[in-house]
Amino acid sequence: MKFFTSLLLAVQAGIHCALAQDDTVIYTDSASGIVFNTWAPSPSVTVGLALPSNALTTDATEFIGMITCQGKGWCGVSMGGGMNENLLLLVYPQDGAVLTSLRWAENYQLPGLYTGDAKLTQVSSAVNSTHYSVIFRCQNCFQWQQGTSEVGKVSTSEGYLVLGWCFATASPGGASCPNTLTVQQHATQGLFAAPLTDAVVHSEYPAWAAKATSVVTGKC
Ligand code: HEM
Ligand SMILES: *[C@@H]1O[C@H](CO)[C@@H](O)[C@H](O)[C@H]1NC(C)=O
Repeated sequence: MKFFTSLLLAVQAGIHCALAQDDTVIYTDSASGIVFNTWAPSPSVTVGLALPSNALTTDATEFIGMITCQGKGWCGVSMGGGMNENLLLLVYPQDGAVLTSLRWAENYQLPGLYTGDAKLTQVSSAVNSTHYSVIFRCQNCFQWQQGTSEVGKVSTSEGYLVLGWCFATASPGGASCPNTLTVQQHATQGLFAAPLTDAVVHSEYPAWAAKATSVVTGKC
């Protein structure tokens, strides 16, 4: 009995830990009014999500995202968790703007360009002495296709996502043009679970998505 009690306690402690790790912080962007569920899988990276109102029953294909990272290097997320064969988003500050590049990797080397039909448009971005941050709409970003055979998706109706993150302190090479830049391997990386609850879906989604009007391409 004693054994089972301690086993139960250990299991409960474990569950607690997992929940703590996934703690969601609600953040409202004051300029746009967009409300995000945010997760900070690392002290250097915060990721926020806002989803269409029916995303918990019908798989969303798009989202409004926020990424805030420390420093002046670059950071990224993987929509499917792992680096390989999932849609990747690379983000970095450049000349006061925040540039983005959708990428695809088949191995743990410099990811090439994503060639599917995802579309990213920005609501706003901010760069200061310690952080860079971008709020964006990503259409066709919860499903992906690279070439003719590589297809994948995540299901928001399952009630959680497993996302990947990475963080680098060095700036990309050729940073003026996001589609031709090069990066070295990130310094830190990992996976995190993002439980999707009623708080992450919003009837205001269409109005918020309509604010994502900026196509920020850099100088290519
Ligand atoms: C030259 C460029 C890159 C190299 C050499 C590289 C290499 C690696 C390696 C070796 C790992 C495994 C680390 C470990 O398990 O200890 C890893 C993980 C990861 N990378 Fe990269 N990476 C690069 C660029 C990127 C980019 C651009 C992104 C996203 C925008 C990214 C996202 C991730 C994520 C999310 C993980 C953790 C999940 C996983 O292990 O699959 N990486 N990377
Ligand atoms: C810089 O931006 C970050 C993230 O947006 C914010 O938390 C921080 O307070 C800002 N710092 C200053 C000095 O404005």
